[in-house]
Amino acid sequence: MQESEVAYLSFDQDQARALAAASQDLADLGGPQAPGVAIKARFWASRIEKTLETHQLAALQRFADGQLSALMCSHMPCPGSDPIPEQLPDLPTLERSNRCLYLASRNQLLLELVRYRAFAFDIDNEGKQTRLVGNFKGGGSVARADEDRSAHVELSSHAGLRLGPHTEAPYNCSVIASAGQSPAPSALILSARWNPANEPTRIIPLRGIIEQLGSLHALALTSDSFDFTRSDCFVAGQGEAGKATSMLQFDPNGGFSLRYNSYRFSLNDLASNTAANAFDAFQALVGAAEPLPFVLQPDTALLVNNCRALHGRDILQDNRRLLVRLFGYSRFAQPVVITEDPLLVRG
Ligand SMILES: [Fe+2]
Repeated sequence: MQESEVAYLSFDQDQARALAAASQDLADLGGPQAPGVAIKARFWASRIEKTLETHQLAALQRFADGQLSALMCSHMPCPGSDPIPEQLPDLPTLERSNRCLYLASRNQLLLELVRYRAFAFDIDNEGKQTRLVGNFKGGGSVARADEDRSAHVELSSHAGLRLGPHTEAPYNCSVIASAGQSPAPSALILSARWNPANEPTRIIPLRGIIEQLGSLHALALTSDSFDFTRSDCFVAGQGEAGKATSMLQFDPNGGFSLRYNSYRFSLNDLASNTAANAFDAFQALVGAAEPLPFVLQPDTALLVNNCRALHGRDILQDNRRLLVRLFGYSRFAQPVVITEDPLLVRG
């Protein structure tokens, strides 16, 4: 029987207290962006590991080895109260806030528990480790106070638009750097500061879809037959669109690695009919898949394997929803490193 693609890790009270104290210590040092914090996160993770039960360690190991699409971490209450505001504060205010630093630090700690390193791309999110995911630019189901409903809204995690199933960019390669460009993130981790309407993050594990596709279609997805458009969150002038890239490749850790974005990928003009048929079949299966919903709150965090699962969400209903996201590289990833601490890589 196939093992499940999703695992759940819940912490007991003592473990949760230790996690909270360690997260607060990292936040006090400045969070993931501050030099010296990554090594401190590794230190705290190794201390917490010693308190974990066998089944908890097994779940972490499966994610670390690339065998899971997602790992949902729960029972991590935050210290103090953090009432939901009447409106979402502006981005700079949030980025400086203690609670966002705390959640980002906890995300870094959880990444360390699966032996992943938090990092940022030079071309993405202004080179910052932490991405705050919220409706800062409009496009949600309810207009922001300052929103011009006739204006174009960027398709990124800083808007309220629906984000169809995707893996995180860049889309040039997975795992090992190629042509001077670092691979896609191995994982992302999301927690929520506020999610008043309990709006889910949706996950589509890909293993079943690739198996349903069949071997010949899967083989065609490994050909350089696909184009993608540039991501709206990239720094101006950087991270160009891509032409004639593959979507799927063999990977010894987890079996495969896939790159895809339902609103950015298309078929290359020179693609064969075989590749076109495979692309159609893949998209049909993704369209028919029933995504797994995960409702994030401050006491939970979701690790998503970015090589093995698609993620997405519906149009935002409550503009106060705010997620805190970090990217992580597995121990197998080989990026082009610009600075080691904090880890910044070439996109
Ligand atoms: Fe995303």
